[in-house]
Parts: sequence; structure tokens; C-alpha cells
Amino acid sequence: MAPSADHAADLGDRRSAGRADPAPIRVALLGCGTVGSEVARLLTEEADEFAARAGAPVELAGIAVRRPDKHPELPQELLTSDVEALVSSDVDIVVELVGGIEPARTWLLTALRAGKSVVTANKALLAEHSPELSEAADVSGADLYYEAAVAGAIPLVRPLRESLAGDRITRVMGIVNGTTNYILSAMDSTGASYSETLEEASNLGYAEADPTADVDGYDAASKAAILASLAFHTRVSASDVYREGIGSVGAADVAAAKMIGRTVKLLAICERVTDPDGSESVSVRVHPVMIPHSHQLAGVGGAFNAVYVEADGAGELMFFGQGAGGAPTASAVLGDLVDVARNRLGGGRGPRESAHAGLPVRPMGDTPTRYHISLQVADRPGVLAQIAQVFAKHDVSLASVRQRDKHSTASLVVVTHAAPDSALRATVDDIGELDVVHEVVSVMRVEGEDS
Ligand code: NDP
Ligand code: HSE
Repeated sequence: MAPSADHAADLGDRRSAGRADPAPIRVALLGCGTVGSEVARLLTEEADEFAARAGAPVELAGIAVRRPDKHPELPQELLTSDVEALVSSDVDIVVELVGGIEPARTWLLTALRAGKSVVTANKALLAEHSPELSEAADVSGADLYYEAAVAGAIPLVRPLRESLAGDRITRVMGIVNGTTNYILSAMDSTGASYSETLEEASNLGYAEADPTADVDGYDAASKAAILASLAFHTRVSASDVYREGIGSVGAADVAAAKMIGRTVKLLAICERVTDPDGSESVSVRVHPVMIPHSHQLAGVGGAFNAVYVEADGAGELMFFGQGAGGAPTASAVLGDLVDVARNRLGGGRGPRESAHAGLPVRPMGDTPTRYHISLQVADRPGVLAQIAQVFAKHDVSLASVRQRDKHSTASLVVVTHAAPDSALRATVDDIGELDVVHEVVSVMRVEGEDS
């Protein structure tokens, strides 16, 4: 659909106002914090380069922040706290780097309805309101680009929505939150405490304004919703995603993982599930897992992200790079900005939302998973048999059982085969009730090897 008549005419006038050089593309930058400040710096310092790449000067028309007086480093004539006025002014593209749902949703709807294209890194907003924003973009013919919303610098949105548009994606799995990966890597390698490492991640600009979004898995769940929507041509919102953060991961879990040659990672897992009757659904979840040290995701440390994509034709693809931080995220934002500027100059637009498949989202309880369970149990005859009975009662089959004696107790480490998550959960609850079980030391799902 064409851009709204007024805006198209305006852009057309400015494109062909008798000048040999195209008129500048005017950009409103909302937010100038960790990411926005890098975007502003590069747009200013490398203005000629961006003009050459886009096909016209890319001009910062205004920068909206909450507290203009706190930004003496920015061109004062561009600064404002009046976001509505900036969004409604004569700009072509709105770059939103504020975050949160409101008022960002209202600003972006205003921009899109007026035919202004939007570039955003706001995964929380997209995971809740992508359909509404996409529809507004469709009606006015504007672009909605969001490469930076998932996995920082790593090109992932574009490969899923464009490069793999001709393939059938079956699985997207990976590390999509830099802050929690930074924390888990430090816990694993140096035994550092959770709280001191979170503070470091915040100081390095990786964490969200409210870091509980990172540690409780909300940020990764938003990204999983975006990835699943793109991969499976289905609308998946954050509330469809099963979510556990890393708050429950303690030193005991990290040690238990090490003992069996594994490491703990917070993974986003998006799968296409086909039932025996041929019907399809999608499973989308975020939770800590133990993966073998030999697994490629196990070596992804610090704030790096890595995502596997499996597709029928392409097979396995892996995307790896810096998942958070000002400069890496600005790289993705600026890539989108150049693309959107080119689209506007060429009179076209980028890909629209693709949600035609409309697959149902499978409840977590029905999703097949595997558990690692580490227990302290009484060291006497019949204990193992009692525990085995509980697994049998819930129809859960065991992949491995290891026992180590320690005085009058024994430590028992069980890894299951795949079973519905609800059956595994019920098994753990029942085992915890047995008199012979002194302590359930660690329970975590395992991934990355045959089930
Ligand atoms: P920051 O908190 O560093 O910056 C937020 C900016 O928004 C600040 O400039 C702030 O103004 C401004 N702001 C906040 N509220 C308002 C308001 N009501 N009106 C006007 N301006 C406002 O955030 P980040 O740069 O870290 O993140 C921005 C977005 O990018 C978020 O959506 C985040 O999820 C996403 N993102 C961040 C990544 C990262 O590594 N940091 C990576 C990928 C995505 P002031 O400076 O005056 O306080
Ligand atoms: N807080 C996010 C993270 C920023 O740690 O991954 C990148 O989206």
C-alpha cells in the first residue's frame, strides 16, 4: 500500500524540488542513552558515509530525551523532551530507543499512522503490540524495522524474515540475553556471586533499565516471541512464552552441571511440533538448561549471543556475535535506518508482517523436555527402587543414573529421557515427598543431546 497521500506528496516534493541532490531524510531520535548516544554519534561523525550508503543525507532533525539538561554533550538545538511534538514534526523516520510499552507504543502508532517509518530496538513493545504496529504500518505504507530488538548486533530478524522466507523453519534455539549469559558465565568460570556480576553487567550497558527484565527472563521471552513469530509465520506474544529466569540458578546447580560435563545457560527455544496426526503447533519457551561442554552454545561467554536456526532446506545455521551494548546494538539500528531510508528514496517498502500460518501455541506441560535431577538420599537398600517407582508411575524413562556414597547419604544424579514437562514436574514433586530423599539439590532441564 502507498504511503499516506499527504506524506507521500511531501516526500515527493522534497525529493524532486528541482535540486540535483536528493533532499535529506529527516530522522527523529527518541532516546539517547546507551544505544541512542552511539546512533547519534555515528550519524553525526559519519554523515557523509551514511549519505552515500542511503542515497541522500540522513539528517538528525531532533533528539528526544527525558532530561535534556543532563545531556550537555549533545547539540542543544536538537534536544527536546517533547516527544509528541518531535514525532509529529516534519520527519521521515522515527528511531525509538527509549524502551518500555507506554508511551513508546503511542509515539510509534502516531508515527506509523502518519506514514513515517519506524526503526526500534524495543523488544518488550514488539512482543506485546507487534500486530497493532504492523497493521498501522500496512495502512500507511510505512516501514517497521527492528533488527536491534533481538540479539544486538547479530543479523537475525532479516535472515528470518527475508533470507529464509523460502524455507520451512523447524527450530530456533539460542542465547538471546547478554546480561544473564554474562552472569552465568562468571558463575561458571570464577564462582562470582550473582549480585556483583549483575552490577557489572549493568555498568557495561548490557542490562535493561530494570534489570529484573533480564534476570527473570522477560527480555529473553520477548525476543523468543519475536523470533517464533518470524520463524513460524504465526503471531506469538510474550504472554504465550513459557518463562523461567536465572533467579533460581544457584552455585549448587552450576556445580551439579560441572559434575556431569555440562554448563548452565538460559536458552530461548522455539520449535515447530508435529503431532502423529500431522497437526502442527509451536512451542516457545525460555528457561535455564544444562548443555554438554561439547555443545557449541556452551562456549558462548560474556554478553555474547548465539542462535541456531534449523530449516528443512538450509539445514543448521548458527548466528553468533555481541548481543548487547551500545555500539553493537547501534550497528543493527543504523543498518535498519539505511535500509528504511533507501526504501523511502526508492518509493518502496520492506517486508510486511507474515502471520498467515496462525499455528496454536503448545502449553509447556505438553512439551517434551528432559530433566537432570540431583538428590541427596539415604544410603540403604531399596532406596533406588522407591525412586525408580516414582519415575515409572509418571511414565518417565531414565537415560542415566549415577550414585556416589558419602557417609550415611548418597548423592544421586538422574537424567531422564524426553517426557511431557508436566509429567517430569510431577515426578520431581513426588520424589521430594519421599522420606528417603534428604534433599532435592538441583533440578534443571537438559538440552543438546539425543533424547
Ligand atoms: P537507556 O536507559 O540507556 O536510554 C533510554 C533513553 O530514553 C535515555 O536517553 C532517556 O532519557 C530516554 N527516555 C526515557 N524515558 C523517556 C521519556 N519519557 N521521554 C523521552 N525520553 C525518554 O536505554 P538503552 O539505550 O539501553 O535501551 C534503549 C532501547 O534499546 C530499549 O528498548 C532496550 O530494550 C533496547 N536495547 C538495548 C540494548 C542494550 O544493550 N542496552 C540492546 C538491544 C536493545 P535520559 O537520557 O534523559 O534519561
Ligand atoms: N538487556 C539486553 C541483554 C540487551 O542483556 O541482552 C540486549 O537486548
